[in-house]
Amino acid sequence: MAQNIYILGIESSCDDTAAAILCNGKILSNIVATQKVHEQYGGVVPELASRAHQQNIVPVIHQAISQANIGKKDISAIAFTRGPGLMGSLLVGTSFAKSLAMGLEVPLIEVNHMQAHILAHFIEEESFEKPKFPFLAMTISGGHTQIVRVDDYFSMEVIGETTDDAVGEAFDKSAKILGLPYPGGPLIDKYAQKGNPKAFKFPKPKVPGLNFSFSGFKTAVLYFVQKQVKEDPDFVEKNLEDICASIQYTIVEILKDKLKKAVKETGINQIAIGGGVSANSGIRNALLEAEKNHNWKCFIPKFEYTTDNAAMIAIAGHYKYLKQEFSDFSTTAKARYKI
Ligand code: KG4
Ligand code: ZN
Repeated sequence: MAQNIYILGIESSCDDTAAAILCNGKILSNIVATQKVHEQYGGVVPELASRAHQQNIVPVIHQAISQANIGKKDISAIAFTRGPGLMGSLLVGTSFAKSLAMGLEVPLIEVNHMQAHILAHFIEEESFEKPKFPFLAMTISGGHTQIVRVDDYFSMEVIGETTDDAVGEAFDKSAKILGLPYPGGPLIDKYAQKGNPKAFKFPKPKVPGLNFSFSGFKTAVLYFVQKQVKEDPDFVEKNLEDICASIQYTIVEILKDKLKKAVKETGINQIAIGGGVSANSGIRNALLEAEKNHNWKCFIPKFEYTTDNAAMIAIAGHYKYLKQEFSDFSTTAKARYKI
């Protein structure tokens, strides 16, 4: 039998310090330390993020190795997030991955975080079907909004992306306007489930092609709330569920319209989603409906593989390991890093 491939994945691009061990593409451990320090600031503070990564990285990696029940000497290669992300955050993971790979005398593998969100669908899981090439991937989170045509593991093309805010920011900024704590996306989702999605109408931006724009949407929510609160100071409190349902409905419509267009233009009807916003119940329902009504085949990964995690970095590393595509030790973190 061929030798087992053990990949240690390290992720530190934003505000989650994560490490995972995969054996032949199957998860042995998947540890995430989420930084709570940013909540009080209503968003990620880059300087605090890099400091917290420095604090967390050693315990997180230790935990990943011990939970996997392997020894450091078993590790075949170390995969790390080279970018895109916050420079200070990326530097911590990159430097640590290089040093550890050097110490253990194993290959170093750089991974593009956006490719990894997509490759999360290839983590070996018994009950999960994998998409077949070619497919379309929609990556939606607090930092990204992209539609990607995926022809092979590392042959991907971004065919649509946001020109300003990410969709997660549209959720979080709308939530902030309503006085909800950060990150407000999951709260909008929660209240939306009890509200009427047609109660209030928000404009959908007109953006050419497959690109997105959410900054105008956020401003429309702000003006709407300001106007209503002037007339009735308790407006938000009285209508919270309906406002959230209407915001969510509009955001989901925006995403759905672009996906429909992408399917039409490419002739590909397999859709895989990733990123924290793919937890949203409105999006999940819209995709399930599209499976019935438009003959799409949709792939929604487990929640722990959709938000930032290191298992997705490790699976990307696994496929690069199979191709023996290793990085030079002079590689550097890259804040802007295209797919
Ligand atoms: O992937 P992620 O954990 O981190 C990055 O931004 O890379 O995504 C976090 C984003 C936040 O904007 C959060 O509000 C949003 O995902 N989010 C949701 C839901 N769960 C998380 N947005 C809407 N509905 C949800 N259920
Ligand atoms: Zn991400």
